[in-house]
Amino acid sequence: MKVFIKTYGCQMNERDSEAVGALFVQAGHTLCDHENDADVLLFNTCSVRDAAERKAKGKIGFMRKLKLRNPDLIIGVMGCMAQRLGDQLLAELPHLDFVLGTGQIHKALETAEKIAAERKKIANTDVAPEEIDMLGAHSVNSQSAQIAITRGCNRFCSYCIVPYVRGREVSRSKESILDEARSLVDSGVREILLLGQNVAAYGLNGDIRPPAEDHSPFAELLEELNEIPGLARIRYTSPYVSYFNTRLISALANCSKVCRNIHLPLQSGSDRILAAMNRQYTAQSYRDKVAQLRSAMPDLTFSTDVIVGFPGETEEDFNLTRELMNEVGFEQAYIFKYSPRPGAKSATLADTVSEEEKLRRNNILLDDLQLRIGAKLASLTGSTQEILCEGVSARNPARWTGRTGTNFVVHFDPDANVRPGYLRQVKITRSGNVSLFGELI
Ligand code: SAH
Ligand code: SF4
Ligand code: F3S
Repeated sequence: MKVFIKTYGCQMNERDSEAVGALFVQAGHTLCDHENDADVLLFNTCSVRDAAERKAKGKIGFMRKLKLRNPDLIIGVMGCMAQRLGDQLLAELPHLDFVLGTGQIHKALETAEKIAAERKKIANTDVAPEEIDMLGAHSVNSQSAQIAITRGCNRFCSYCIVPYVRGREVSRSKESILDEARSLVDSGVREILLLGQNVAAYGLNGDIRPPAEDHSPFAELLEELNEIPGLARIRYTSPYVSYFNTRLISALANCSKVCRNIHLPLQSGSDRILAAMNRQYTAQSYRDKVAQLRSAMPDLTFSTDVIVGFPGETEEDFNLTRELMNEVGFEQAYIFKYSPRPGAKSATLADTVSEEEKLRRNNILLDDLQLRIGAKLASLTGSTQEILCEGVSARNPARWTGRTGTNFVVHFDPDANVRPGYLRQVKITRSGNVSLFGELI
């Protein structure tokens, strides 16, 4: 069978799709790049905002014409929207063959085979078995690879659907993570991205209270990964600010392979809104943590997630967010307009901020960010940076791109000694709006 997989949502979903793809490939099937060529169409979906669901549903609805042309075509929906809506999706989209929730995606292959043989619709949203191996094995075709180290989330931020669709937080064993990392490095991977909804809570058995200052299983994991010969870089996403205790901060500072960039979701700069969001920190404690991290690692860059227009967010609350963002000086930020999610706690609150006002606040933060990124990139002109080479630039085939440990993209002219995954020094010659240009040294 030829299988086409389309992924929506976060990196966790991308990794799951890779793992599902690998299941099919190992069984002798092939992956294809175009839906028109496929015998099996899989959509790995996201529920985090209404727009994410609408987008996937629109695309899946459109697939009806392919099914009319080829009644043997198998169409399956997996992931977070599949978990949230279950067999309701089969009713809504009658050309669908199966729906697999987040704990059942390891059954994608057997489900597709069963449908090919029996032609009966299937919806399975059972919770994942405790011992699910999180689909360790997957295909690798680049210098970077993702490893899921936790599954699910226990934090229940009031706006968020993730704990409901991904289930309770479970950490994978350290041995299996290290084994996977070593085998990835043996197959040529140079950079590993550790994934989890609350990644720094790794190994805490789902306890949502941040641990004592001297205890961090995540730090221990980083230290062991840091020792793997041949591995050049370690990244991780997303951590929750409260878990950066002294143990973790000193491990980050001491592990030379751990990148000097932290994605540290802020959500809001107003204590009133943070409390309503059930985020367990204040603007001041966030600020203090950033200062503590910066004093241990002066070259650190930060990115963040922010929500504008949470129920009850006033102009004053919004201004507090804006000020804190400018004060921290995030090098990157993902700004989201609040979207009520049925089932999440905040959905019971009136959505008080109009769409128009959400958009206005969103655009103000984006404009601030653009100015800040431009100035930050310009300030790097003339500096020398170490980059991990990625490959030919998508925009200009004569050029290559690489990335600094601080997560800036650098475009450069290749020489004979450049390969994906090589670490090279570049002199930054100029900056653009979102990236840098440099010359190999
Ligand atoms: N686990 C990650 C976040 C995963 S969701 C963390 O806690 O850092 C990614 C981002 O989507 C969140 O950080 C938040 O900014 C945004 N988000 C989540 N639910 C949302 C909602 N209902 N409306 C708008 N944005 C939302
Ligand atoms: Fe959602 Fe909060 Fe969990 Fe992140 S930590 S996935 S925002 S509930
Ligand atoms: Fe979306 Fe699920 Fe990720 S809701 S953000 S795909 S965990």
